[in-house]
Amino acid sequence: MTSENTLTDQAQQILIDNDRGGYTVPTAGLYPYQWNWDSAVAAFGFAQFDVERAWVELETLFQGQWADGMVPHILFHKNDPGYFPGPDVWACEGPIPSSGIIQPPIAATMARFVWEQDREMGQTRMGALYPKMLAWHNWIMRWRLHMGAVCTTHPWETGRDNAPDWDKTMARMDASDVGEYTRRDTAHVNSEDRPTKFDYDRYIKLVQLGRRLKWDQAAMMAESPFRVADPTMTFTTLRAARDLHAVGEALGKDVSQIAADIKRLEAGVSTLWNKELGGFDSRDVHSGEWAGCVSNASYLCWFAGVENPAMLARLRDVMERVPYPVPSNDPDAETFDVRRYWRGPTWAIVNMLIGLGLKDMGHEKEAQALAKKTADLIAEHGFAEYFDPFSGDAAGGGSFTWTAAVWLAWAGRD
Ligand code: DGY
Repeated sequence: MTSENTLTDQAQQILIDNDRGGYTVPTAGLYPYQWNWDSAVAAFGFAQFDVERAWVELETLFQGQWADGMVPHILFHKNDPGYFPGPDVWACEGPIPSSGIIQPPIAATMARFVWEQDREMGQTRMGALYPKMLAWHNWIMRWRLHMGAVCTTHPWETGRDNAPDWDKTMARMDASDVGEYTRRDTAHVNSEDRPTKFDYDRYIKLVQLGRRLKWDQAAMMAESPFRVADPTMTFTTLRAARDLHAVGEALGKDVSQIAADIKRLEAGVSTLWNKELGGFDSRDVHSGEWAGCVSNASYLCWFAGVENPAMLARLRDVMERVPYPVPSNDPDAETFDVRRYWRGPTWAIVNMLIGLGLKDMGHEKEAQALAKKTADLIAEHGFAEYFDPFSGDAAGGGSFTWTAAVWLAWAGRD
């Protein structure tokens, strides 16, 4: 118990240390700004010991919301030359300097958890946040649907930057004219842990394209070579819609449109089922081609309230075979790499979302086992950005906000 208390103290201290005044950075150095979904998870972590601070985290995030409802993936509150690409590269015109893309919209789900910690105290805060969260949901429904599934327009949007899901689409892109630029990420952490130059050239190429099109969604839809319907965006949007529906009802709002959206998104989920692969997969909207990948995002089905026995069988299998599940890539895949970011490593944040979903859907045993394995991983290897799924070795950045928040809100409980 003592060591668990110590870990809880450490986790709280990480959130406090990464607090830059109203928002939390994912980790000092590597990610020196406010990232959208990291911040939502930070709020969930803060809610375990400082509910007021949890609300502030979410409120600061929505201060960066664009007039059309979009909530950017990074808010550049204060310029930091240690990060590339910074605000001058993105050239966006929101209320706070920002990137021009989104991230998995888990803020509504995390806001609901924060609210549940103290409904009375959070009533006014939730009342003010709800229309903003709804506007973002409407933006996604307006601009990102393909056959009901939610598309990503940049690998960074999913958070799963270099997942093999994007390999085929990226291989078709020409980035020979991307020009000179200096990466900053590899100055902070081991380059073996990070995406390759081939990938980075294409990330930057897509930023250049968005900038040229002034981040106009219609123009990007027409011109961008990168448009992939993906499990991360689809499952998190569906889950957020369910949470918005519940919150809206509790606030006495008309939620009929959200109910209709939930039906559309549920239909979209079925378009991500790759029968041959036997898993939820990503599909390139332009080519119609499957990525052929079972990633940790494929297991977010339960988080979205979607049952799937084949995925449950797969999960049980991977939990038996891999000491520290859930790996971000199928261990049998040719693309599997134990260290390289989203091509194999285990991410505590995704584990939490999977585990919360499993519990909601009545898979108590698997939920508990996953929480326990994640707790062991953190207890043995620290609050790292991500971990080698076989050795448990820490990788990427350290003292990581969302890993600390996962400990506080989920893995380290009980
Ligand atoms: C990065 O800079 O590596 C981030 O993942 C972009 O969101």
